[in-house]
Amino acid sequence: MQAKRNILVSAALPNANGPIHIGHMLEHIQTDIWVRFQKMAGNRCTFVCADDTHGTATMLKAEQLGVTPETLIGRVKQEHERDLNGFQVEYDNFYTTHSEENKKFAEQIYLRLQKNNMIFTKEVEQLFDPEKQLFLADRFIVGTCPRCKTPGQYGDNCEACAATYDATDLLDATSVLSGTKPVLAGSEHYFFDLPQFSEMLKQWTTSGTLQPEVSNKLAEWLDSGLKPWDISRDAPYFGFLIPGTRDKYFYVWMDAPIGYMASFQAYCDTRNDINFDDYWKPDSEFEVHHFIGKDIINFHALFWPAVLEGSGYRKPSRIHTHGFITVDGTKMSKSRGTYITAETYLDHLDPEYLRYYYAAKSNSGMEDIDINLDDFVQRVNSDLVGKVVNIASRCAGFINKGFANQLSSTIHDEKLWKESVASSDMIFNFYEAGEYSKAVREITRLADNANQYIAHHEPWKLAKDTTQQQAVQDVCTMGINLFKQIMIYLKPILPEIAHKTELFLGVKSFVWADSTCFLGAIEINRFEALIQRMDKKIVNQMVAASVESTDKNIAQTGTRDSSDNGEPTYSEKDHTANTIDIGDFSKVELKVAKIIAAELVHGADKLLCLTLDVGDHERKVFSGIRSAYQPQELVGKLTVVVANLTPRKMRFGISEGMILAAGSDEEGVFLISPDEGAAPGMVVC
Ligand code: 2FM
Ligand code: ZN
Repeated sequence: MQAKRNILVSAALPNANGPIHIGHMLEHIQTDIWVRFQKMAGNRCTFVCADDTHGTATMLKAEQLGVTPETLIGRVKQEHERDLNGFQVEYDNFYTTHSEENKKFAEQIYLRLQKNNMIFTKEVEQLFDPEKQLFLADRFIVGTCPRCKTPGQYGDNCEACAATYDATDLLDATSVLSGTKPVLAGSEHYFFDLPQFSEMLKQWTTSGTLQPEVSNKLAEWLDSGLKPWDISRDAPYFGFLIPGTRDKYFYVWMDAPIGYMASFQAYCDTRNDINFDDYWKPDSEFEVHHFIGKDIINFHALFWPAVLEGSGYRKPSRIHTHGFITVDGTKMSKSRGTYITAETYLDHLDPEYLRYYYAAKSNSGMEDIDINLDDFVQRVNSDLVGKVVNIASRCAGFINKGFANQLSSTIHDEKLWKESVASSDMIFNFYEAGEYSKAVREITRLADNANQYIAHHEPWKLAKDTTQQQAVQDVCTMGINLFKQIMIYLKPILPEIAHKTELFLGVKSFVWADSTCFLGAIEINRFEALIQRMDKKIVNQMVAASVESTDKNIAQTGTRDSSDNGEPTYSEKDHTANTIDIGDFSKVELKVAKIIAAELVHGADKLLCLTLDVGDHERKVFSGIRSAYQPQELVGKLTVVVANLTPRKMRFGISEGMILAAGSDEEGVFLISPDEGAAPGMVVC
């Protein structure tokens, strides 16, 4: 038998300036499943998290709400804990990065790095908002992409052409905070000398601590050379002052991962059976695992191990990286009601539905996971309710009523029992490797076998024959044992149903080793329903409520958060009122057109004059896409034209139709083009 392992686990720290949503829940649930599995396996596993409190965003949000940052983060922490508990995510400690412990560790780590000549300062020129008196982080600056000229791009990269650049390269840069034009200003910044760790990181990132695809991604960055990391931000900033300075703060990403240590330290301080240094000393045999999303790999797999190494701490044993979620195939969207907060979800649906669904779709890779809402309902109802829970409901009544709750002492089908026991190691290994979908698939196979066994023996028919009473008890005892075993296998995913099963059977909290034990000749309790079937109507109500609550948010705060895509919001009612029927739609004649010439329009900043080939003739169209395209880059492109629009007389001439483009001046404008192969004049339908 394997020696007991000592494992410290963290999930990434949620930001303290917004609610938890179902996207966050993927990671918290995946991590919780792994931790619960480790605990069931007999390992000492400690699960910590905290709110990530620092940074400009928290400061501005508090200002906007008219409260102090401390008040804001206090409120948000309560909400986050409520939501995480609601999803049965069981932290040993959920803390805050704005804590004494975190301050102590951040300062200690910094001073050690400084002593080891790993910190230097350098004058940095940055965009500054003269009205707000703030240096502007990249996402507080918008402007026109210097490469493709798409307006409305953030200060670090262009969503239209994927160019990366410095905020100072943006054309027409504007401060998101005040709408003013930022000015360049210099200030002294503190840097962590990351390149000193290049060799160590090349070795560490390929030593089995990361998934292969993550190592490969990092190899690209490592090969192209690391740059020093800017770890300071100027006042005003909500965070910890850098020791020895009066107006320089640790950048939030410097003290956030240190929050893992601080949360663990605070936990250790409440107990006398666990010791911080045992886990964090450089040569520790104990394990440290971080679960993160693929967007924050660089912080966890480059900066963090280097900071730990440089300050005399151990490095993580493993980083488990997952992808993002989409809902019905697209990014969560407030206007579609698929930006679903944990709170709204819990107001409508059982948390174990989502735990089950996420597990059924999770593997050890980092592909995105889609919540298809129809599939969600179908999968929960057919597999979890229809197959797993059904086993117990088919058998329990007979034992409760016919046998005074007494299980028989016989294993009715030894072969089937042995086969189910034999799956234990395989399922165990799937959990260990984060291959939850494979675990669920194998468990579902066992549930199918159990249902076939019951269907084959038909206890409901046997029960009518007085000579077959022993067989009824034996078959139902077998069924209940198969169910018990399946619930042990599912316990990391479905802790509440597993707990109800323990109560039903009158047994102690299941551990993994119980999966091989047959429960015979004991008295069980009355069977109560374990979970309801899922109702698609309620899912629809949840989606509708998510649209409404977003409207409310916007009305209250006057702002949108970064996940909002700026689409207009609508209610169900408006949506119905705005529909057109197919007859209306068929009046619009859409045709493929080729742009054969494009010219600036004198006196019209926003317009281009396009000459279109529409198959059998040419025509001229004035189009408001000047902000996004240079005339010459359009020539030769295919697009779609509304061909039967009444020609419109404009100041500059007559426009004979309209071409289709997506977006707006704020979001960027994108010409709609058919795939290659389409020819001018083809009808678009
Ligand atoms: O990306 C985020 O939401 C960060 N708050 C995660 C921090 S994880 C850790 F480094 F603290
Ligand atoms: Zn661009």
